[in-house]
Amino acid sequence: MSAVLVTGGAGYIGSHVCKALADSGLTPVCYDTLEKGHRWAVRWGPLEHGDIGDGQRLDEAFGRHRPRAIVHLAGYIEVGESVREPERYLHNNATKTAALIDAAMRHGVEAFVFSSTCAVYGLPQSELLSESHAIAPMSPYAESKARVETALGKASSSGLRAASLRYFNAAGADAGGEIGEAHQPETHLLPLAVDAALGLAPPLTLLGTDYPTADGSCVRDFIHVSDLADAHVRALHWLRKQPASGLHEAFNLGSGSGFSVREAIAETARIGGRPVPHRVGPRRPGDSPRLVGDIGKSRRELGWRPTRDLAAQIEDTLRWRMKMPR
Ligand SMILES: NC(=O)c1ccc[n+]([C@@H]2O[C@H](COP(=O)([O-])OP(=O)(O)OC[C@H]3O[C@@H](n4cnc5c(N)ncnc54)[C@H](O)[C@@H]3O)[C@@H](O)[C@H]2O)c1
Repeated sequence: MSAVLVTGGAGYIGSHVCKALADSGLTPVCYDTLEKGHRWAVRWGPLEHGDIGDGQRLDEAFGRHRPRAIVHLAGYIEVGESVREPERYLHNNATKTAALIDAAMRHGVEAFVFSSTCAVYGLPQSELLSESHAIAPMSPYAESKARVETALGKASSSGLRAASLRYFNAAGADAGGEIGEAHQPETHLLPLAVDAALGLAPPLTLLGTDYPTADGSCVRDFIHVSDLADAHVRALHWLRKQPASGLHEAFNLGSGSGFSVREAIAETARIGGRPVPHRVGPRRPGDSPRLVGDIGKSRRELGWRPTRDLAAQIEDTLRWRMKMPR
């Protein structure tokens, strides 16, 4: 069975990617510091404890498992924190990824899939963002992702086959109930709304209600984490079919539909059958008013499509938050 190195595989999205890889007959080798991830989330393959910036540890992991592909999800993820600590974000997410790309080249990796973000687009110039939209990061977090995309573009001219998957807002949890979102601190809307509704967390703070949108709150495109995970398996297969001379392609992964933060809160209250206590706070620096993806390219090229809507994402989040380890 062919091994795939999954950096950040102990995290929220990474653990779902590991499950999808295992379901498709591949062996996910989780490579993670466990700084933010969880040992309990590593269930579908071995764990290699290591940092993506550590070339020696990477060589050891490659020597032991001989992965033919990398899915690179490791990184820090909080936009607000990145505004306060830009260098830490640029170092962990971009500078250290250079060491990982070097290792990929040294070990003749056939396919490199990277977790990028729709935040690289910055202020939208159109209703739906396609992959050809200008790159204009509004936060150090988004800047770190844009830098990695540039580095992958350069490495592709030396033969690397790479795909940058620009996720919109990942949400939901595995239907089997074994894994889900468990960030510390949690900054994502659906788990915060669900926890507030269940009385497991204080009232949710709505980050800005004066955006130029229909109800003043930000509009986002929510995509189920298991649909995201499926796209990684498809991207690996797609890359292996591409010319060996190397390439770098970006793909949007969203639902193609936007919901405002207020709409998502109302939907959570409806599905949960109880109100979501919330209050209005100021905008968070680095946030774009509207991020909704054009997913035509991913549909066409990867044969991928989203299968679980916002209601399903909320139902899965509710089920997970009631039983998750805290
Ligand atoms: N969650 C979202 O909605 C979203 C949206 C767009 C992009 N992304 C990207 O997807 C990826 C995964 O996000 P997530 O929500 O699962 O985050 P997460 O924090 O749950 O997982 C990230 C994992 O990376 C590990 N890690 C961090 N730095 C590392 C390093 N230097 N070396 C090795 N391991 C390291 C952490 O320990 C953690 O397990 C991130 O790169 C994130 O930027 C997430």
